[in-house]
Amino acid sequence: MENQAATHAFWLAGRRTAGEDVLEVTSPWDGRLVGRAAVPTEAEVEEALAAAYAVREEFAATPAHVRAAALDHVSRRLVERTEEIARLISAENGKPMKWARGEVGRAVSVFRFAAEEARRFNGGEAQRLDTDAGGAGRLAFTRRFPKGVVLGIAPFNFPLNLCAHKIAPALAVGTPIILKPAPATPLSGLLLGELLSETELPAGSWSVLPVPNERMPALVQDERLPVISFTGSDKVGFQIMDSVPRKHCTLELGGNGAAVVLGDWASEQDLDWAATRIAAFANYQGGQSCISVQRVIADASLYERLVPRIVAAVAAQVTGDPADDATDVGPLVSEDAAKRVESWVEEAIAAGAKLLTGGKRDGAGYAPTVLAEVPAEVTLSCEEAFGPVLTLQSADSEEAAFAAVNDSKYGLQAGVFTHDVQAAFRAHRALEVGGVIIGDVPSYRADQMPYGGVKQSGVGREGVRFAMDDYTYERVMVLTGLDL
Ligand code: SIN
Repeated sequence: MENQAATHAFWLAGRRTAGEDVLEVTSPWDGRLVGRAAVPTEAEVEEALAAAYAVREEFAATPAHVRAAALDHVSRRLVERTEEIARLISAENGKPMKWARGEVGRAVSVFRFAAEEARRFNGGEAQRLDTDAGGAGRLAFTRRFPKGVVLGIAPFNFPLNLCAHKIAPALAVGTPIILKPAPATPLSGLLLGELLSETELPAGSWSVLPVPNERMPALVQDERLPVISFTGSDKVGFQIMDSVPRKHCTLELGGNGAAVVLGDWASEQDLDWAATRIAAFANYQGGQSCISVQRVIADASLYERLVPRIVAAVAAQVTGDPADDATDVGPLVSEDAAKRVESWVEEAIAAGAKLLTGGKRDGAGYAPTVLAEVPAEVTLSCEEAFGPVLTLQSADSEEAAFAAVNDSKYGLQAGVFTHDVQAAFRAHRALEVGGVIIGDVPSYRADQMPYGGVKQSGVGREGVRFAMDDYTYERVMVLTGLDL
């Protein structure tokens, strides 16, 4: 790997390129310079785009074993370089090392799943058509083909794994991709480019370009990029989609994840487990995950026993230097982000919310915070906090708890702590979200599962196989005159 404080080249059509300009990447923890990312010129972006467009037919025809071997290679190299990559993620993002290592491990799986899926994808499905007299001797044969070059736009909160979720499925189906990492955390995406450059994938099939946000509208409009896969805020995501209504957009947007604790989850052990999981996943990567726990909705029969456990578990989270293995919660991505969280908490308290722990900012750091009795109309109750803040409320019944989950403009994932399998099915049916996790927090994500939301939380699904479906469409071939 390049010296982290050095300038990291970008990847133009698979080629290491120095560019003319640079973007400075600083640590949210102590402000030190972590590295510089080379920024492509307009002409270089055009070259990458033209190369991606030109190679699309050749790439779609690449044998599955070539694509699978490249994906397996990246997966293996991520394993070999785990510690160094985790340090890079932690340095540029402020994520504690324990979570950064976990992120690398997930990216290892994403590339491995993509290699496996590349081997079995698109075998083709036959459907007999002689079910009606007009179809005698006819067979429909269906395969999936790429919709076209993908523009992948990744966020800062998982700077490696959410780049992996854009790039690996594209390479698995043989469609070129232009990946734009987040301006705050481009170095992990550029490192992924370094691993891809060690493979035999055709030139042009992938580029990693840290294009500044203000230059993105032109790229979004470019007709050679018919597929956009965006992860980030609902505001930006829907702006993109509204600006290109005829393109295919996959949007992975915000959420205000709820953990419901039903009345049967009532033993001492149950409550301790729920409190521990809620505390950890309200605060992992400083709460900067779309599926972190933002809301706890607990049955009134156990609410009073659960609250002190949650407060104690949140207060026990170790805050500090993300490079330290003992740290649970590091800084937010910037001081501005922490100030926004601070202002939302202050607004809630001024409106009558009770602060149970936390509520203090120190630079980009914000203390893990728990609030109760938060009025429904304050920003914290309506928007995604994207910070280490948890709100608690009680519900008089299962129906009331599920209604409270649905009383949100978001619908990404929900967690339901229950032992009752019937309640699990009722939750699955009632909750307006993309995923329901039974017996755990909403933050559980396995990278092969379909992942995405409803309402303002997004459109389409990621999760390796599901992104592969999203990047391709079915094309039918009808064979006639067959002796079926
Ligand atoms: C996200 O924040 O949308 C991604 C969460 C995850 O991959 O765990």
